[in-house]
Amino acid sequence: MVQNDLSGKTLPPPQHIAIIMDGNGRWAKLRGKPRTAGHAAGAEAFRRIANYCRTLGVKYLTVYAFSTENWKRSQEEVSGIMTLLARYLNEALRDMEKNAVTFRFFGDLSKLSPALQKLCRDAEERSSQYHEVQVNFCLNYGGRDEIVRAARAFAQDVADGKRCPEELTEQMLSGYLYSAGVPDPELIIRPSGEQRTSNFLLWQSAYSEYVFMNVLWPDFTERDLDAAIEEYHRRNRRFGGT
Ligand code: FPP
Repeated sequence: MVQNDLSGKTLPPPQHIAIIMDGNGRWAKLRGKPRTAGHAAGAEAFRRIANYCRTLGVKYLTVYAFSTENWKRSQEEVSGIMTLLARYLNEALRDMEKNAVTFRFFGDLSKLSPALQKLCRDAEERSSQYHEVQVNFCLNYGGRDEIVRAARAFAQDVADGKRCPEELTEQMLSGYLYSAGVPDPELIIRPSGEQRTSNFLLWQSAYSEYVFMNVLWPDFTERDLDAAIEEYHRRNRRFGGT
């Protein structure tokens, strides 16, 4: 739904929305199903919401698909999530021309299977020609890990004589992150009732509005996204004039 302010003026959606897709396991448990069924329903919710973001004119959508801590889950659950991702990326590669979505991956992909790494690389390479809508998958991603890697890469550039410590700025450090070149998210949504950041976009979320919602991710609908964007606009309206 396009949103208007009190005078009827159309409010633009946030340019960048990020989502922690949480609650898949509880959704499955409530239905007596295996956790992998919850992730499959979560992948459907992702398709629904990614399409809707495009309809609304959101430029960047970043989703937390697999964290650096998620390896602690059972083998069956981990491979279930990886299979869903592979299926989605195969579909995305098939429909690439029609959808014209740019894909980026934030995280250390080297721990993924060679086949999934190749799918990620192909999706990133083949979609880099589009400039309309961008989906960022956080895969084997951790916010602290991202910052450590950026610090290490900068230190290496200093050791190689390409940079000196005094020239480091916030903007320069941003360029060493997985998200280099992507504007920070204005809105971060966490469904499922949990109210934590869970190591998601620690650097990029410095000024983001967080909206925590009680719906489980597989049940998340277009109306829930409308509600989150409304809440974001309410907060902006309250503070925007000062
Ligand atoms: C968190 O819910 C969710 C994950 C760790 C995995 C998210 C993955 C997907 C939605 C599928 C990825 C595929 C695509 C195509 C996006 P949880 O399992 O921690 O839920 P719980 O807190 O209720 O147990």
